[in-house]
Amino acid sequence: MKALIPAAGHGTRFAPFTKLVPKEMLPIGARPAIALIVDEAIEAGADEVVIITSPEKPLLKKWFEIEPPKVKITWVDQIEQHGLGHAVLQAANLFCEKDDKVLILLGDALVSGGCASKAMVERSEALGGVAVIGVEEVPLEKVSRYGIMKVEGDYVVDMVEKPSVDEAPSRLAVAGRYLLPVKIFEYLKTQTPGKGGEIQLTDSIKRMISDGTKLAPYVYPGKRQDIGNPDGYYAALTAFRGECKS
Ligand code: UTP
Repeated sequence: MKALIPAAGHGTRFAPFTKLVPKEMLPIGARPAIALIVDEAIEAGADEVVIITSPEKPLLKKWFEIEPPKVKITWVDQIEQHGLGHAVLQAANLFCEKDDKVLILLGDALVSGGCASKAMVERSEALGGVAVIGVEEVPLEKVSRYGIMKVEGDYVVDMVEKPSVDEAPSRLAVAGRYLLPVKIFEYLKTQTPGKGGEIQLTDSIKRMISDGTKLAPYVYPGKRQDIGNPDGYYAALTAFRGECKS
């Protein structure tokens, strides 16, 4: 299985720090976040990790010269940042049908409380190979900050972007990990810009679901840590204090 880590974003929520250092290089203990995310992909069974980055972020590659990776890393540049879906699309030619699935781990999201990606792979296998999306159960008063799942039976049937408390179909928020069939790339190729004028991964996932692809939610036993903003980073440091080896 190949994993894909989009890590080319501008990181404006963490500016001005990110003008010099990519948010994926923020230290969690003595190693950068990107190293922990690559570890998670390996633990989930990835034998190759594709990292989407940009020429403005040379530090990411430099890290893996200091700490040689335990897996093949393939680097792909996203020259212009047109959103998460656009970042994923840059790796389309590295995947073919025999890859079956792609494990996507956002470069600015850590998940505390165990290896979420490994659990997602196991959930997929237990359900006969369906797609799985990592979700975090959030307090009702915070649903308007997230993409929220509508679940029927065992599967996600829709996603609503930033709903009000009254409109929210659940408290399950999309949270940085996806195990998707490789046909997601075909959907991304024809994806029109959505929110913020960007190519949104969730828009393509929604189209795939409405065409009949089964998508199971995996609710993290722990929490998604969004290190893309200073408050989220403080929380991640606290959460990982006991979990990190270094
Ligand atoms: P975010 O929206 O959190 O990242 O995307 P961002 O664009 O860096 O954030 P702000 O709003 O400017 O602070 C989630 C993940 O997708 C990557 C980011 O690096 C992050 O890991 N991403 C986002 C890309 O690789 N390319 C993009 O065009 C957008």
